[in-house]
Amino acid sequence: MIKFTLNGAEQTLDVDPDMPLLWALRDHAGLTGTKFGCGLAQCGACTVHVDGYPTRSCQTFVGDVEGASVTTIEGVGDDKVAATVQTVWAEMDVPQCGYCQSGQIMSAVSLLSETPKPTDEDIDGAMWGNLCRCATYQRIRAAIHEAARRLEA
Ligand code: FES
Ligand code: FES
Repeated sequence: MIKFTLNGAEQTLDVDPDMPLLWALRDHAGLTGTKFGCGLAQCGACTVHVDGYPTRSCQTFVGDVEGASVTTIEGVGDDKVAATVQTVWAEMDVPQCGYCQSGQIMSAVSLLSETPKPTDEDIDGAMWGNLCRCATYQRIRAAIHEAARRLEA
């Protein structure tokens, strides 16, 4: 049994500790907003927060989050920064196919939580590991700047 906090609630999963966290979230906790892309920690589609840090869930064992706090795209909107990011994302039509976007949002929320007024360089540094086959990078950058403006107001 693996116990951890998932989106603010206690979660107990009867799974192998060596199972990737991504599998546990999608197949056992029923949270399918976090996506599988590469399985190699190289695309960012599977990004969740573990104790507040952006984490590639495809390369994290579920046993390693025992006792930790895990937040997924389904739960991150309770936070003011994340709610603002999600609103801006929708208003600015950031997604194209959408597949990478939950990971993009999780990384953007981490960036804005740590760096409320990020420069283009800050954004590139925080987001480089989140790939987008639809090449929405310019809209992602613009949306992060807009979210920063709204959070500052
Ligand atoms: S699926 Fe985890 S980084 Fe690509
Ligand atoms: S919106 Fe299609 S992969 Fe990013």
